[in-house]
Amino acid sequence: MTGPRSASHPDAPSAAGWWRRAVVYQVYIRSFADANGDGIGDIAGIRSRLPYLHDLGIDALWITPWYPSPMADGGYDVADYRGIDPRLGSLADADQLLREAHENGIRVLIDLVPNHTSWSHAWFHEAVAAGPWSPARARYIFRDGRGPDGDEPPNNWQSAFGSSAWTRVVEPNGRPEQWYLHLFASEQPDLDWENPEVRAEFESILRFWFDRGFDGVRIDVADALVKDPALPDMPPELSGAGSFPGEHPHWDRPGVHEIHRSWRRLADGYEPRRVLIGEIGVEDPERLSRYLRPTQLHAAFNFPYMATPWVASALRNVIDATLEAHGRVGATPTWVLSNHDATRHVTRLGRPYTGVRRRELDDILPVDIALGTRRARAAALLMLALPGGAYLYQGEELGLWEVEDLPEEVLEDPIWERSGRTVRGRDGCRVPIPWEGDAPPFGFGPPGSTPWLPQPAAWRSVTVETETSDPASMLELYRAALTLRRAHPGLAGEELGWLDSPAGTLLFGRADRFRCAVNLSGAPLALPGSRTTLLATETVVDDCLAPDAAIWFVAARS
Ligand code: NOJ
Ligand code: CA
Repeated sequence: MTGPRSASHPDAPSAAGWWRRAVVYQVYIRSFADANGDGIGDIAGIRSRLPYLHDLGIDALWITPWYPSPMADGGYDVADYRGIDPRLGSLADADQLLREAHENGIRVLIDLVPNHTSWSHAWFHEAVAAGPWSPARARYIFRDGRGPDGDEPPNNWQSAFGSSAWTRVVEPNGRPEQWYLHLFASEQPDLDWENPEVRAEFESILRFWFDRGFDGVRIDVADALVKDPALPDMPPELSGAGSFPGEHPHWDRPGVHEIHRSWRRLADGYEPRRVLIGEIGVEDPERLSRYLRPTQLHAAFNFPYMATPWVASALRNVIDATLEAHGRVGATPTWVLSNHDATRHVTRLGRPYTGVRRRELDDILPVDIALGTRRARAAALLMLALPGGAYLYQGEELGLWEVEDLPEEVLEDPIWERSGRTVRGRDGCRVPIPWEGDAPPFGFGPPGSTPWLPQPAAWRSVTVETETSDPASMLELYRAALTLRRAHPGLAGEELGWLDSPAGTLLFGRADRFRCAVNLSGAPLALPGSRTTLLATETVVDDCLAPDAAIWFVAARS
C-alpha cells in the first residue's frame, strides 16, 4: 500500500519504544464498518477501511473486545477469550486484519478484559453448577448473604452501572443460594485474582494473542482486579468514584501491581516487545504513575486530561501534573479527548462551563455544536502538540457529536436499565460512523442495511466523503496535523516549555522553535508577527488568533 507517508513495517528495528509518541486510533468494532449488512460492524469492515486509516496517519489501532459474547456490555462480557464472535468474523479474519494492518504500517492492540468474564463463560457455568465453596466457585467471588435467610447481599458495594454489586444465584428448583460479586453488570461476574488458576489462565490468554503477532493489549479496568479479601462494607467517604485517601476495598489496591509486573515480564519476552496500555481510573497522578514504573505498564489513558474543562489554567495545571508524574518514573504521558464511555467532546465542549462537572447537570445544559466544534478543532491541535502518545476515538476526526436523542427503545447500555431508566448511558457516543452518501446507513453498511443504532440525518454533513478535500473540515485538520506530527522534528522529543502569554491563553514551545498557541480567553490573541504558520484552526487575521482557535507555528529565530 502506498500513500502520503511511507509505511514502515512495524517489525522494523526502529520500533523500540514506538508507543512513546504513537497516535492510537480506537475502533469500537460494533460501530466502525459493517461489511455483511447485519447492522453490526465487523472485522471485514475494519479491513475494508484500512486505506482510510493509513491515509489518516495513525500509528496503531486499539480494537474493543471482539470475543464471543452475549453483548450485555458491548462485548466487555467475554464468553471465550480465545475466539472471535461469529457476528464479527473469525480468527482467520483477525489474523488477516493483523497482516494487512502491518503491511500498512499500523500496529494492532486488542482489548483484554481480566476483571470479569461473561456469565456465559464456561467457568461461570461450572461455578454455578458445582455449588458453594467448590474449586469452580473459587475462580469467582461467591459469598453467603447476610441476614437470617442470607437474603441480603454480603456487603454494600454498588455496581459501577448502578444498583448492588451482588446478584444471588437461584437453583433450578427456585431455591436461592449464594451471591456473586460483579463490579459492573450482573452479566459480568468478577474473577478472584487471589486464585493462581485465574492468573495462569490470563497469562495463557496473553500468549495466545501475542503468539499470533498482536502488538499489545489495552487492559480493561486495570486497577480493579484485586479486592480486599475481607470484603468490608464501603465506608460512605469512599462510595463515590474518583480520588480517595489510603486503601480502597476494590480500586487501586497495592496487590494489583504484582499482576502487571508479571504481564510485563511476559510482554518483554517477545520480539518485538509487546505493549501494555492500562485503563486506570486513578485520578491522583502520583498513584497513577506507580502503574507506569519501568517494570509495569507502558502507558495509561490520561482521564484527568479528558475531564478537564475548556479553561486555560485548568488545562495548564493538568498538563504540568501529567508531565511531572510521568517524568518521575520515566513513563510517556498520553492525551485523550474521547472514548466509547464518554460524551463526545464536541458536545462536552459545546456546553457552558458551570464550574461543576456533574453528568446529571451536564446532560441538561444546552449544547452549541458550532462552538463545540470550534473548540474541538483547537483541542485536537493542543493534544497533538503535547509530548507523548495520543488516543483518538473513531469519529472524532469527523467532528461527530453525541447523539442525545436516541429513542429509548434502542438503548442497549446496561446503565439504562440498572439506573432504573434514569441515566441513558453511553450509546450516544457509539452511533455507527457515517462514511458516505446522503442518508443512513451512510456507507456504514451496504445500502438498505439498518445500523444497530440509528444515525442522525444531520450526519450527512460530517461523512468521510463530504469532509474529504474540504480544507475547512475536521477530517482535513486531523490529516494535516497527523502528517505534520510525523514530519516536524519539533514534535519528536519529550520536552515542553511554557512561554508567557495573556491570561486565558496557552503558549508553549517544543524543539526547533515549534510553538503551539491556544486561545481560550474570549478575546483575540495577538501573535508574534514574524513566524511561519504550520497549521491553524481558523484564519489568522491581523496576526491575531480568534477565540477558541489554535495554531502551530515556527517562531522566528530572534
Ligand atoms: C471499561 C470499558 O471501557 C467499559 O466500556 C466497560 O463497560 C467497563 N470497563 C467494564 O468492562
Ligand atoms: Ca456485520
